[in-house]
Amino acid sequence: PSERARSLGAAVEVDIAGLPPGSMLTVEWRGKPVWIVRRTPEMLQSLQGLEAQLADPASAKDQQPDYARNTHRSIQPEVFVAIGICTHLGCSPTAVAPGAPQSGLGAGWPGGFFCPCHGSTFDNAGRVYRNKPAPTNLEVPPHRFLSATRLLIGEDSASA
Ligand code: FES
Repeated sequence: PSERARSLGAAVEVDIAGLPPGSMLTVEWRGKPVWIVRRTPEMLQSLQGLEAQLADPASAKDQQPDYARNTHRSIQPEVFVAIGICTHLGCSPTAVAPGAPQSGLGAGWPGGFFCPCHGSTFDNAGRVYRNKPAPTNLEVPPHRFLSATRLLIGEDSASA
């Protein structure tokens, strides 16, 4: 797309063939960072049993397209797509692995995302923990798979 189309928010095509399990790729869409995480079985397992600790475990609030309104908040469980901007005041959360004692999140931390600005925490599906400054889960942008290894960010079959 032309520079002008880009600035207006053209969809962005991403090749995820080379993205190893447990890794994250960041692309820019509409001037925002969009994360693409290839989750491992352990990361998916970490989403189980957190309901009581989360503010919106079933994604009732409108922070994702309908196809991402599920426990893993994605089309394919392994591939998580989210806008990497904290829903509190817009800082960039960072991925923090399980345990990670240096993070200060405690030994029981199951892995997810931490926003250093005011301490909001999110699980591996971007679901915000209760009693944190961030009011909602991380936003999942419209997206779809063009093939097994190519994603289109910013457009889905509903809006295409
Ligand atoms: S901006 Fe993330 S906790 Fe405030």
